[in-house]
This record gives sequence, structure tokens and C-alpha cells, in this order.
Amino acid sequence: MLVNYTNGLVNNLQDNHEAKPAASTAKDKDTKPNPNRYSGYVLAGAFVLCLIVVIVLVTVLGPTYPLFILEDVTVRSFNASAGTPLVTLTSHLDATISAGNPSRIHAIGYHGLRAYVEYQSQWITAPEVPLSPPDLYQSTASHRSTATWTPSFAGDAVRVSPALLQDLNAGVVNVTIHVKGRVRGIIGALKSAPWSLDVRCRASLPFGKLGAGVPVPGGGLKFALGKPCFNRG
Ligand SMILES: *[C@@H]1O[C@H](CO)[C@@H](O)[C@H](O)[C@H]1NC(C)=O
Ligand SMILES: *[C@@H]1O[C@H](CO)[C@@H](O)[C@H](O)[C@H]1NC(C)=O
Repeated sequence: MLVNYTNGLVNNLQDNHEAKPAASTAKDKDTKPNPNRYSGYVLAGAFVLCLIVVIVLVTVLGPTYPLFILEDVTVRSFNASAGTPLVTLTSHLDATISAGNPSRIHAIGYHGLRAYVEYQSQWITAPEVPLSPPDLYQSTASHRSTATWTPSFAGDAVRVSPALLQDLNAGVVNVTIHVKGRVRGIIGALKSAPWSLDVRCRASLPFGKLGAGVPVPGGGLKFALGKPCFNRG
């Protein structure tokens, strides 16, 4: 060993491989008393049990997404101004959005839910409208509880893609309602960390199709959709 150190870096490698393991095992044998085998097994068993519990909890409390459905959209007003080159839209839409919990194991906690409407990936209503209620506790699927929100969206002379004029001429306008917020899985007193929600509900509004929308009190056309939304983490 002494010789190796004096010879410098190259020999240090050799030194590590040969000398150290031998030294440490000898030391272990000398200083440590015989391990108590029984308590060793108990410790190992407890460790494995803890690991299983953690894995089960992580699996059970992991992100299971609520199922959102866009039930209907009522178009109160939808006025595009065809000024060239800018096209602007003044609109007022009411929607009914529901969410169910598909899990039989855990309840869902919703936090800070909010929504907005897009046309061709551009906001056409105020950036975000809080859903009422924004926070909600929903029990497991076995209780068949459904949460429902009826947000109202409005945009005033919002600049939009000129494609809107063609769509209006064709008689169908596709919009997307985004729902954002956070959700957690809950089992009794246990709560998972919240994960963020970005739900997209696509609505195809057939303005031009006679009878597709039902006139509602207060003015406007109600389109029944009942379409599942898409979840994205
Ligand atoms: C557009 O606005 C006018 C009033 O400015 C209103 O009478 C009309 O119903 C609106 N059209 C639509 C489709 O909302
Ligand atoms: C609007 O949505 C409908 C149904 O999803 C689809 O068939 C149609 O092609 C869409 N139109 C446009 C202009 O994107």
C-alpha cells in the first residue's frame, strides 16, 4: 500500500480495488457482534410492508380524471363584424357542464375551477370565468353524484380569425370550452397531491341548420350536445 501511494495516480486505482475491500470486511468481522437474525427479518418484513402500502396508496390516489361532459350551449348572441382586415366578434354564450367521478375507490376534490371559450385556439370570451362553485367535493362513483356548472361567457369586440366569416356562411361554428383547475383524489382523511386539469369540451354549433337549436326565454338558441370532453394533464 505504501508503495502504491508513493507511485502516484495510476496505482491508486489498483490500491482501491485490492486493499480497501479486504480491509473493510476484516474490520466488520472484528468489530460487529453477531446480528440478531430474528429482528433482522422483522425489520425487512416491515420495510416490504411499508413499500407495498406506499405503492397501493400511490396507485389508488394517483390521477384518475373526472369525466366532464358538455351538456348544452345556449347562444345568446354571436355577432361578427366583417370590417376588413379585422374581424371582431361580440358574443354571449351560456353552457351547462357536468362532471362525474368514475372511481369507486376515491372521492374527488375540485379546486379553483374556471373556464373560457376559444375559437381556433384564440380566446373569444373573457380569459377566465370562475365556475360556481369553483371548489367541490365529489364522492365515489358508487354514489352516482354528478356535479353541474352553468357558466356564462361573454366577449366584446374580440379580434378573431377571418375564418369565422366562412364558418358562419357555411352555417357551423366550432368552439372549444376549456375548463381549468386542480383536482385531488381523496380517501377518508387521505388526500393526494393536487394535479392540474385542462379539459377541452368541443362544441359544434350548427347556426345554419334549421331546428338544430331550440329558442329559449330571454332570447337565444340552445344546442343540446351531451358530448364528453377531453382531459389533459
Ligand atoms: C347582433 O346584434 C344585433 C343588435 O346589435 C341583434 O339584434 C342581433 O340579434 C345580433 N345577432 C346575433 C346572431 O346575435
Ligand atoms: C366542426 O366540427 C365538426 C364535428 O366535430 C366537424 O365535422 C367539422 O369538420 C368541423 N368544422 C370545422 C370548420 O372545423
